[in-house]
Amino acid sequence: MAAPDAAAHARRGPVADPPPDPAPRIDTTVPHNARIWNYWLGGTDHHPVDREMGERIRALFPEIADNARADRDFLARAVRHLVTACGVRQFLDVGAGLPTRDNTHEVAQRLAPDARVVYVDNDASVLAHARALLTGTAEGATAYLHADLRDPDRILAGAARTLDLDRPVGLMLLGVTAFVDDDAEVHRAVDTLLGALAPGSHLVVSHPTDALDPVRAREVRDAWNARGTPKLTLRGPDRIAALFRGNRLLDPGVVSCSLWRPDHPGATGVRPVDEYGGVGRLP
Ligand SMILES: C[S@@+](CC[C@H](N)C(=O)[O-])C[C@H]1O[C@@H](n2cnc3c(N)ncnc32)[C@H](O)[C@@H]1O
Repeated sequence: MAAPDAAAHARRGPVADPPPDPAPRIDTTVPHNARIWNYWLGGTDHHPVDREMGERIRALFPEIADNARADRDFLARAVRHLVTACGVRQFLDVGAGLPTRDNTHEVAQRLAPDARVVYVDNDASVLAHARALLTGTAEGATAYLHADLRDPDRILAGAARTLDLDRPVGLMLLGVTAFVDDDAEVHRAVDTLLGALAPGSHLVVSHPTDALDPVRAREVRDAWNARGTPKLTLRGPDRIAALFRGNRLLDPGVVSCSLWRPDHPGATGVRPVDEYGGVGRLP
């Protein structure tokens, strides 16, 4: 992939991708994953249909908000590790979700103000709130692209307007591959993205699983899939690990998100959750 022109790289501050025209319609009649995730995280960007489904799932699985928080805390620890220990200064966050506390660019730019971040999501509500993700440092850059994980070539073309793909990138796929049901399709997308990244890039994945509590995890999946969009697929740790395609998995491998390099190892109260994650390094 050719490096973007020097002028684009010299650009300072938020860089927005041109939004689609016309803007995609926000459907408030069907629960949407981005909005229900925001609800469980304590945000404000959701509708009655999302809250109703959020509570129906919480009734089946009272710890659901802990899973969402464990995923976000994992995101923050993984970004911190990539910036401080691996020298990564660029991030491509696909399935970014609605803005919340400690978005990828906030974690990265606190440690490296020149960090550059491209967010991608395919949800109309995320697009509508994307401006809140474009608030980075003057030294760095943030951009938003309305695109689908299943269209990796478009994602790469959009990302290349803000990121230098000849330098390492942290590819963040948190909670998003679960919304592509077909293994072949998800592998094609991930492989295409990884294939365009420079040596020293990293892949960060989190994914809901049924490894710990299969009965309840499947009840939650079925309740969501009865009405919610997009449809959810659970994958076990081996299928999640397969997404890394033989790239070296950093210790401790694919584990419950809450147990991936916790800030206070051995602290009481760190509970494993049925949301697994891992970080891999491209040679
Ligand atoms: C569970 S949320 C995770 C949000 C954030 N990455 C996090 O970990 O907190 C999943 C996000 O993926 C987005 N998403 C689902 N399917 C997608 C697809 N095929 N392409 C792009 N984004 C998608 C949803 O709109 C939602 O914002």
